[in-house]
Amino acid sequence: MNSSNPRVAAEEGVELSHVSKAFGGFVAVDVDELSIPRTGVTALIGPNGAGKTTLFDLLSGFTTPTTGTIRHGGRDVTTQSPDRRARAGLVRTFQLTRVFERLSVIDNMLIGTLPGTHLRLATSVFRPWHSAKRQRMVREHAMDLLENVGLVAVADLSAGGLSGGQKKLLELARALMCEPSMLLLDEPMAGVNPAVRERLIDLIRGLVATGVGVVFVEHDLPRVMALADRIVVLDRGKVIANGPPDLISADAAVIEAYLGGGGEWKKTSNP
Ligand SMILES: Nc1ncnc2c1ncn2[C@@H]1O[C@H](COP(=O)(O)OP(=O)(O)OP(=O)(O)O)[C@@H](O)[C@H]1O
Ligand SMILES: [Mg+2]
Repeated sequence: MNSSNPRVAAEEGVELSHVSKAFGGFVAVDVDELSIPRTGVTALIGPNGAGKTTLFDLLSGFTTPTTGTIRHGGRDVTTQSPDRRARAGLVRTFQLTRVFERLSVIDNMLIGTLPGTHLRLATSVFRPWHSAKRQRMVREHAMDLLENVGLVAVADLSAGGLSGGQKKLLELARALMCEPSMLLLDEPMAGVNPAVRERLIDLIRGLVATGVGVVFVEHDLPRVMALADRIVVLDRGKVIANGPPDLISADAAVIEAYLGGGGEWKKTSNP
């Protein structure tokens, strides 16, 4: 791999070409060309309703584009299921957490949206001679991840009893069960207390240090500036800027998109 070749780096990440997503007559996303490299931290920002979550849905396979092509790792994944994309390393979390409230925290880690784990557990069915060992290994891995995010003490408690911030941490840990190479985090820090936020920032930095690429949606600009290596700005479904933080903060179109509407660029707060 030649990491100094930007073409190679871009091919390893995600690339969109003429991608649009329409809901009825309303076009929520309309991206001409966009490459997000696989490594480092990319922030996806934009006003409420700009299309950030829809773009994550498109990248992760939770919705299919009305037009255009999406590539991941150089492969056309436009019609691939979320499971397949996750198995190839492209994994996302949700703006509104999707934990199984009635299950314990550890069971949330072991079942559900876990393509990688499914695969390992499914394989174990056909290899009964070491199925118990495999399941123990998966469980140990899950407990290690819970330890990393600070949830090991509540592993056996019902996930429904977790705070909003703990649910965000559980979603992150669950996403890590898939061993992502590229992780899409939709507003991971929205509505969490400062301690959880600091933990999330540390976790993101730690992941990036081990080579995982992180793309995150965030409304708080100082946080974006502190964490991101590059910023993609969406406005009304279109990419209006894309580049390093210092260039983005000086970009006239970005300032207009954020500050043009009365000095406020976030109109609602997410839970
Ligand atoms: N399933 C859907 N059907 C119809 N319209 C939709 C659907 N999903 C999203 N939209 C619309 O598409 C636009 C983009 O929504 P999206 O959730 O992607 O925005 P966002 O940038 O994530 O906003 P926020 O910052 O509030 O999370 C919005 O106008 C939204 O109402
Ligand atoms: Mg959103």
